[in-house]
Parts: sequence; C-alpha cells; structure tokens
Amino acid sequence: MEKPTNRILSGVQPSGDLHLGNYLGAIKNFVSLQKDYECFFCVVDLHAITVWQEPKVLASKTREVTAAFIASGIDPNKNNIFVQSQVPQHAQLAWLFNCVARMGWLNRMTQFKDKAGKNSENVSVGLFSYPTLMAADILIYLATHVPVGDDQKQHLELTRDIAQKFNNDFKVDLFPIPEPLIFGEATRVMSLRDGSKKMSKSDPSDYSRIMLTDTAENIIQKIKKAKTDPQPLPQNIDGLSSRPEAENLISIFASLQDVSIEKVISEYSGKEFSIFKKDLADLAVSKLEPITVEMNKLMNDISYIDSVLSIGKEKAKQVAEPVLAKTKEIIGFLS
Ligand code: TYM
Repeated sequence: MEKPTNRILSGVQPSGDLHLGNYLGAIKNFVSLQKDYECFFCVVDLHAITVWQEPKVLASKTREVTAAFIASGIDPNKNNIFVQSQVPQHAQLAWLFNCVARMGWLNRMTQFKDKAGKNSENVSVGLFSYPTLMAADILIYLATHVPVGDDQKQHLELTRDIAQKFNNDFKVDLFPIPEPLIFGEATRVMSLRDGSKKMSKSDPSDYSRIMLTDTAENIIQKIKKAKTDPQPLPQNIDGLSSRPEAENLISIFASLQDVSIEKVISEYSGKEFSIFKKDLADLAVSKLEPITVEMNKLMNDISYIDSVLSIGKEKAKQVAEPVLAKTKEIIGFLS
C-alpha cells in the first residue's frame, strides 16, 4: 500500500461554540498548513456524543464548524472537509484499535480524568475509549502529521503507541507514526477569568472565552473584563513567570498579530494593562470579525455547506476504504 509523506488529518468537535483557543491553537494553523500538505479536516461528531448533545443543536453545530473552517480561510476545493459519522470506516477502525490499545494506556489519559472528575462511574464508555477513535481518525488516512493544540499531545502519543503496537503485533509496516504539529504563540489559550485553567467550551462562564460567534462588542467587553494583575507589562519574557493571566493575554496578542511574544513585550514593556487591553481588543475584533461575518453568511446557505461535506465525504471514503480493507486482511478477517 502506497504511503503518503505529507498528509494531515485533524478534527474539531461540534460540541459547542468554537472559541479563540480552537482558532489560535488549531484552525489558524490548518489555514497556514494547507499549502504544503494534503489535508483532511474532520468535524468529529462521534467524539461530541461522548457527552450528551441535543440532536437539533448537534446538526447545526456540525455545519457551524464547517462554516468556521471555510470562513477562516480553508479552501474547500483544495482540502477534504467532512463529517466523521459519514465515513463509517473511522468507527470500524476504532473498534479494531480498542483491541490493540491497553487499559493501562487509557487509564493514564489526563483528559478523561479531567472530564470525568469524581463522576467516573457514570460517564459514557465512549468518553473513556475516546482516544482510540481519535487514533482511528488519523490512521485511517495514514496521516503523517496532526496539527492540534497542546491539550491533545497525550492523545497523539497514544495514537503513535497504537500504530507501533499494531505494526509490531502483525509484523507489518502499515501505519505511519504520525508527528504532532503544535506551533504558534498560543498553543494553550487559557481562560480569561483564570490563567490556570484552559479556555474551553465547557466552562460555565461566558466571560472565560471569546467565541467565534461573538460580536465586536462582546469581544471588547470580555477583554476589558479579563483578569490581570496590578503590575504593568514586564521588561522581558522572564517577567511573565508566575503571571499566568498576563502571559495568556500577551500570547493571544502575539498569535493574532503573527509576531513573537518577545516582540509584543518589547513594544508594551512598562505600559499599563488598560492600554494593552484596548489594543488587544481592537486587534481581536479586526482579526475575528471578518471570520464571524463570513460564518454567518455561510450559515445562511446550508445547501452550500452540505455540498462541501458531501464531496468531502466521498473523497475521504476513497482513501479510508482500502486502508480499512488492508487492516482487516492483516488481522485475518474474511473479505
Ligand atoms: P476540540 O474540539 O476540543 O478542539 C479542537 C482543536 O482546538 C484545540 N484547542 C485548543 N488550543 C489551544 N488552546 C485551547 N484552550 C484549546 N482548546 C482546544 C485542540 O487542541 C484541538 O486541536 N480530540 C480533539 C478532536 C479530534 C482530533 C482527532 C484532533 C478528534 N479526532 C484527530 C486531531 C486528530 C478535540 O477534543 O478537539
């Protein structure tokens, strides 16, 4: 089976409103990678239902993530944009990987521990086996590179372990060992209310995150209210240690502006946060508003979104089908 050398797969859950962490940690990087890689961008609805989703909202959010991809600058004619549940090979390979991955490996997943919390007896089995499905998403395309935010690092290590164990167990060289692509100045965007917590869709406070559906006014208000400390901006990067909220806002600025954190610090060192926040709000609005406007426009043309997904599904299946067939043959299943 021919192996690609430059193929990307990444996924985004349609489980709530997309936020600045999803944009800076992942989607913005997808946009810059599309010129050098063959890309598969997947709306991972099977992952979303590991926790409860309202059916009507799920359908709309699935289209909204697609709209966000396109509005952010991913070219749907050049890349494969599709929905995970429409390509059944993902779930089929995930089952096979459930029989490769070890309980001990999954027991170490910090995201499961964080999400399950004290409720681990009562969460879905899917939430526990979530990373084997993620490994299947990647390996069903023999993807070589996976752009993600920093929080997905451990899941990618597990994907590499699964690929390696499968190849070793069956003495084959089928699956590549995919490389994570975690880059940019904001690989882990933190909550605007608490610099020790990741910005996330599930935080109960709306003020903890900037969403891609926010109006300019919302964005300005949220940045104005973002938690900071009383000191001005530091003289150098070392001055950010033990100042998580300051570090977070400066990283967001650097990433939005496409410059280094050092450059932002040298421009603002010694200035008050009130001044910096005003500029950050202007910058955020100037970068995010055009995306929001375009997303809203696309969401008014559902037939266009569905046509993009329909083409994406067919192209994805063409790649996924032979990989699944080969995997089953290797395992010893009758064809
Ligand atoms: P999800 O939907 O939670 O997040 C989508 C992408 O956004 C990144 N991200 C962040 N980056 C920086 N700061 C943050 N606060 C932040 N929050 C989220 C995530 O790292 C991710 O890249 N398990 C994945 C979805 C997935 C996937 C895959 C990814 C399913 N299959 C295969 C890559 C390859 C997830 O939970 O994404």
